[in-house]
Amino acid sequence: MIHMPSDFESPKQPPTISIDQLRRTFSKKVVDHILNPRNAGEIRSADGLGRASISCGDSMQIGLRISQGRILEARFMTNGCGPVIACGSIATELVAGKTINETMSLTEGDIITGLDGLPDSETHCATLAVSALKQALADYLALRREPWKKAYRQVEPFEPGR
Ligand code: FES
Repeated sequence: MIHMPSDFESPKQPPTISIDQLRRTFSKKVVDHILNPRNAGEIRSADGLGRASISCGDSMQIGLRISQGRILEARFMTNGCGPVIACGSIATELVAGKTINETMSLTEGDIITGLDGLPDSETHCATLAVSALKQALADYLALRREPWKKAYRQVEPFEPGR
């Protein structure tokens, strides 16, 4: 069963959705990325680390390993819903091997297209993934200007709601 937030969600007993319901609601690609997320986890001493939250209360962290202006690796963590897992997963795939500028240009639309669509009610999940990615790029660019700061960067563990 997959946790699916809704307007009626109780914090104690979150609603769940069966695999059959998932398949009726989402594209095959979304279901695949929910059930088999790519690049989940974190990168130690990431070259760029971004965190973002969105009005539903969910958060995402994206870490980037970057060399010579290209994304070598991207990893994500989220405390969010099934669709946001799919969005983080596809986002990390879409940016792998891309330049900084290409990554900067990634949009919610690219994520939604990459997943063969999302219901309108879930498009904000793609917005969260893009926000976390942009934060990671901003962190990378800031560290590039002042690389000494990386040695002093204190990264608190990613926790729900942060
Ligand atoms: Fe919160 Fe999907 S419902 S990110």
